[in-house]
Amino acid sequence: MALRTAGSVLVVFLWSVAVVQGQDGWSVTYTPQSICTLKGSTVELSCSYTYPRGYPSRYNVIKTFWFTKVYPVEGYVSLSDDPDYKGRVTYRSDKRNGHTLKITDLRESDSATYKFRLITDQTRGRYSGYPGVTLSVTDKPKNTSVSVSPSGEIVEGSSVTLTCSSDANPPVQSYTWYKKNGGGYPRMTGPHHVFNQIQSSDTGEYYCEAQNEMGKDRSTTINMDVKYGPKITSVSVSPSGEIVEGSSVTLTCSSDANPPVEKYTWYKKNGASLTGSEKTYNFTAISSEDSGEYYCEAENKYGRLNSSSVSVDVQYGPKNTSVSVSPSGEIVEGSSVTLTCSSDANPPVDKYTWYFQNKTFQNGFGQIYNISNFKSKDNGHYHCEAWNGRGSRNSTVLMITLPGKQTSVMTAAVGIIVVVLVLILCLSGFMWFRKKASKSTSDTRDTSENVQGDSSPVYDNISSMAMTPTATQTAATVDQDDVHYASVHFSRSKNQEVPLYSTVQLPQPQKQDEDVQYAAVKFNRPSAATP
Ligand SMILES: *[C@@H]1O[C@H](CO)[C@@H](O)[C@H](O)[C@H]1NC(C)=O
Ligand SMILES: *[C@@H]1O[C@H](CO)[C@@H](O)[C@H](O)[C@H]1NC(C)=O
Ligand SMILES: *[C@@H]1O[C@H](CO)[C@@H](O)[C@H](O)[C@H]1NC(C)=O
Ligand SMILES: *[C@@H]1O[C@H](CO)[C@@H](O)[C@H](O)[C@H]1NC(C)=O
Ligand SMILES: *[C@@H]1O[C@H](CO)[C@@H](O)[C@H](O)[C@H]1NC(C)=O
Ligand SMILES: *[C@@H]1O[C@H](CO)[C@@H](O)[C@H](O)[C@H]1NC(C)=O
Ligand SMILES: *[C@@H]1O[C@H](CO)[C@@H](O)[C@H](O)[C@H]1NC(C)=O
Repeated sequence: MALRTAGSVLVVFLWSVAVVQGQDGWSVTYTPQSICTLKGSTVELSCSYTYPRGYPSRYNVIKTFWFTKVYPVEGYVSLSDDPDYKGRVTYRSDKRNGHTLKITDLRESDSATYKFRLITDQTRGRYSGYPGVTLSVTDKPKNTSVSVSPSGEIVEGSSVTLTCSSDANPPVQSYTWYKKNGGGYPRMTGPHHVFNQIQSSDTGEYYCEAQNEMGKDRSTTINMDVKYGPKITSVSVSPSGEIVEGSSVTLTCSSDANPPVEKYTWYKKNGASLTGSEKTYNFTAISSEDSGEYYCEAENKYGRLNSSSVSVDVQYGPKNTSVSVSPSGEIVEGSSVTLTCSSDANPPVDKYTWYFQNKTFQNGFGQIYNISNFKSKDNGHYHCEAWNGRGSRNSTVLMITLPGKQTSVMTAAVGIIVVVLVLILCLSGFMWFRKKASKSTSDTRDTSENVQGDSSPVYDNISSMAMTPTATQTAATVDQDDVHYASVHFSRSKNQEVPLYSTVQLPQPQKQDEDVQYAAVKFNRPSAATP
């Protein structure tokens, strides 16, 4: 039956017109009996009354008015005198028994039952017409607001209820919920919007709208801040890309949390515990030992969460390059020898250079170098150089020689001795030929005298020989002299002299040689004199 129109046009409930029979023959008829109208509009309440028989001859109506309440002291007060209605009511009677009260600028507080009263000049002639006209001033909902239950912090996973409340006459018919910038809204969920397990994604600003026939009212906005522990913790490495030893590197721990992360803890997998407790972890000059897997833990009052680990791979040029040789023991001439170059490098060594006596080998680019038939010419210094994209490093030098052979110094010494021997042989040969030539032109005595004369130079020779630097040389030279004497004396004296010279031939230490030589010379003289 409600007729709703836009604006402040009256909405009127038309009731069947009822005649209320009062006592003593009086009655007031209200047309209509019930009015529903919008706030701010104007309404007219009308009625007419019937008189008892004999009226107006017996009664004289002296006052008529509309009222709502009966006050304890004042009793019935005309609305025209009521300060709440001051300036808003007009009462009008016409000659055809029409009694109209006009109320302008209706307020909700004007909702009441309005009654009409008439007062006559008779003492008991006062009459109020019941039940009166029910005026209902309607409006769209007002004072719409949202409350959250439970109050206090909203933690993810808990159950939360939003309640929309509103003052409304007529009552609210529907509630609509809104979330600012929220998907899935608006939503009709009644006065209660229930989140069984609230999610962080439910964070946002909410409001509701209450609607009745008169219109809708929007509540103020409430901010729901859903708290939660860290989520999706991760570590990022800056700068990205290759990490070179010595450079500066920063690890950053990121996590979604509400309130923001309050504490960070850094970890290195299988490594010593780290001291950093900041969002960032800095390496001012990263070293190869810093390579590894890193992760962080983010914490706030609602929880903590570890990130997955991130790999830090510090690159560096070859270090600690070394050469090893196989077999490790003595090397046999003609055998095969394998040299292996090892080095610590990241990325791994991709090229090797081999050096022999500081000169690169041909084809020596692998980690292993084989010398299939090791000869004395291969004796010498070996080293390798390991390369990767970041640089190169030489190993220490390895010296490889065949065992058992004299060193070059010994070889030289032997060579010199041989040359000296040959020279002395040639010299003695020459002297022998010269002696032979002179003997053919002199007699035996002359020869013996010659021998005597010769013995002095021999002695001189011996003493000069004694001054030569090495014992080996001296011994060899003395031997040679003895051979020379032997050959000389065999040619002339046959008996005694041989044993004499044989004693001289005995190998002697250098110093004794001189004495022996003296003795030999003394023996020489008598032996030469005896014949
Ligand atoms: C409506 O809200 C106003 C202002 O907040 C307040 O003064 C008034 O009492 C409220 N009315 C009701 C019926 O709650
Ligand atoms: C790491 O370095 C960055 C940038 O230089 C700086 O902002 C940050 O405070 C440093 N962190 C620590 C823990 O020193
Ligand atoms: C993170 O890792 C550390 C070390 O492994 C461990 O002690 C800690 O309990 C972990 N934290 C969480 C939240 O799992
Ligand atoms: C070099 O390498 C050897 C063998 O791997 C190792 O024992 C040694 O500690 C390393 N030296 C350095 C300085 O890294
Ligand atoms: C190789 O060169 C280094 C320096 O360049 C030098 O000290 C070393 O004596 C050289 N070795 C040989 C066997 O030449
Ligand atoms: C390695 O040794 C070779 C030969 O001695 C030399 O030419 C080269 O420069 C060295 N490399 C490095 C990195 O020292
Ligand atoms: C070097 O010799 C070893 C043993 O004889 C052999 O296994 C290896 O393949 C050889 N390497 C090269 C590069 O010739």
